[in-house]
Amino acid sequence: MKLQSALHFSHTLLDQVVKPGDNVIDATAGMGNDTLKLAQLVGPNGHVYSFDIQKTAVTATKAKLAAAGYQNATIVQLGHEQLDQVVRVPIKSAIFNLGYLPNGDHHVITHPETTITALEKCLDLLETLGLVIVVCYYGHPGGEAEKSQVLDWVTHLPQRKFNVLQYQFLNQVHQPPFLLAIQKR
Ligand SMILES: C[S@@+](CC[C@H](N)C(=O)[O-])C[C@H]1O[C@@H](n2cnc3c(N)ncnc32)[C@H](O)[C@@H]1O
Repeated sequence: MKLQSALHFSHTLLDQVVKPGDNVIDATAGMGNDTLKLAQLVGPNGHVYSFDIQKTAVTATKAKLAAAGYQNATIVQLGHEQLDQVVRVPIKSAIFNLGYLPNGDHHVITHPETTITALEKCLDLLETLGLVIVVCYYGHPGGEAEKSQVLDWVTHLPQRKFNVLQYQFLNQVHQPPFLLAIQKR
């Protein structure tokens, strides 16, 4: 067994938690990789709500889902901090990839205030034993500030309501992404 990267481990966790018929959120659609993974897991009776502020990301994600033949996703150009305008059902899971879109505009990054607002809204919607997953990239300008604020926020979530996991390689050079998983108890 090989230890998985944070990104790979995020999909391993989704495989464990998300079942056909579930409602789920991709908070940072980007190129649509997580939206496609979620659409496959929830199937025709479930639904994926997918958010990005960049038109190019929304277009790319819609194209990826259409090419794969999935019609079970609502993909909107809207900040995830406003996700409660679109999602009004309990969710089994939500996934965030923090940072910038690698093949896009590197100046468009996620920001701690809006990220934490969106995370709070996801926890409000989360079903018992559901999982909110954050893959945090922080090597870019602004990344360290987001990393420390998000880590501070998750660290202070009440233990009687949530279990919080951090998954991280400690001996890698540069700034390898790490994963946070928040489970509602
Ligand atoms: C690391 S990328 C996501 C990669 C994506 N998961 C994929 O599979 O390609 C981060 C994305 O977050 C988006 N983003 C930044 N601020 C946002 C916000 N407030 N709401 C939603 N998306 C946002 C960026 O436009 C960017 O596409």
